[in-house]
Amino acid sequence: MTEPIFKIQNVVKRYGEHIILDNISFEIKKGEIFGIIGASGSGKTTLLQTIIGFLRPDHGDVLFRFEHLLDFQKAMTFRSVFKKQQAVKKIYGFASQTPSFYKDLTLRENLEYFGSLYNLSHDALQTNIDTLLNLMDLKHYENLLAKNLSGGMERRLDIACSLIHDPEVLVLDEPTADLDPILREHIWTLIKKINKKGTTIILASHHLTELENLCSRIAIIKDKAIVDVGSPDSIKNKYSKIQEVSIETYPGNYSKILSKISKGLIKSHEIKGAVLVMFTDKPQKVFHELFQILENLKEEVIDMKIGRPTLDDIFVSLSKDKKDEIYKNNQKKS
Ligand SMILES: Nc1ncnc2c1ncn2[C@@H]1O[C@H](COP(=O)(O)OP(=O)(O)OP(=O)(O)O)[C@@H](O)[C@H]1O
Ligand SMILES: [Mg+2]
Repeated sequence: MTEPIFKIQNVVKRYGEHIILDNISFEIKKGEIFGIIGASGSGKTTLLQTIIGFLRPDHGDVLFRFEHLLDFQKAMTFRSVFKKQQAVKKIYGFASQTPSFYKDLTLRENLEYFGSLYNLSHDALQTNIDTLLNLMDLKHYENLLAKNLSGGMERRLDIACSLIHDPEVLVLDEPTADLDPILREHIWTLIKKINKKGTTIILASHHLTELENLCSRIAIIKDKAIVDVGSPDSIKNKYSKIQEVSIETYPGNYSKILSKISKGLIKSHEIKGAVLVMFTDKPQKVFHELFQILENLKEEVIDMKIGRPTLDDIFVSLSKDKKDEIYKNNQKKS
């Protein structure tokens, strides 16, 4: 599972004046479950739609290795997904964030319809439909109108529709959004099953902690850019030393306080209501400096504490300046 199958290279996407994706680069390897994590509005859907060749970037490219080409030399060559739209359509299965199936068709009719878009023979289509209905635990409901499905079943039908042509790569945009924990677990189990059959999976989600046990690697997207890419373990280890130092002072001139702390000591910070939260791997040193700074600035301490942030908190708080640095360091290491 080491060869890259995709190279996302310096992708920039704008809508009007707004930059949505800012110079995004990373690779996805064959056979992996690759997770793209980010808060709402961070650009996950835009990135997925660019990867599948649906949205053309303003700059950069998405390259894909077309393994199905019989010619060995050609199969080793990366091609732009934007120049090979027809081939790309067969390679990808895409389940979008909102259901794509038709509510007034039955489950089997939906699968027949989506299969008809791919030139499959009648027999191959029927075999795929039966396999998918079984895989997704939907066999008993094949003649039910899709409008009568529960939320979890809807999601399974959507994934089944995107797998009807047996694609090499399955792309899932928030496959578990709005589902309860049990249904989410069911979807994750299914995704693992599909991946075991050899399908590369790319998915977007904002459930970072849930994806820890599912993904081989994750990319974290924040403020239009990738702040980190790596295995869940490597990311956890990297940030495990980081502590959260929170202070509340009066009058609370936090920008002044921050400007007096030694450069590089604070990885990132955020202001939560009246509290200044700073992330650091040297909390003792921060405390030491803070006492002096607060005295000099005549800031009265109301509250002061130290704690270990959750992974989610760290990612939410990563600042723009730091993220560029972290990502560049990662690129150097890998
Ligand atoms: N067609 C469009 N025209 C203009 N702006 C858009 C368009 N599509 C997306 N955007 C903007 O791009 C940004 C990223 O949107 P995107 O849907 O990719 O985020 P997301 O991470 O998938 O969010 P969510 O978690 O809510 O699905 C948002 O600010 C959104 O408003
Ligand atoms: Mg989205």
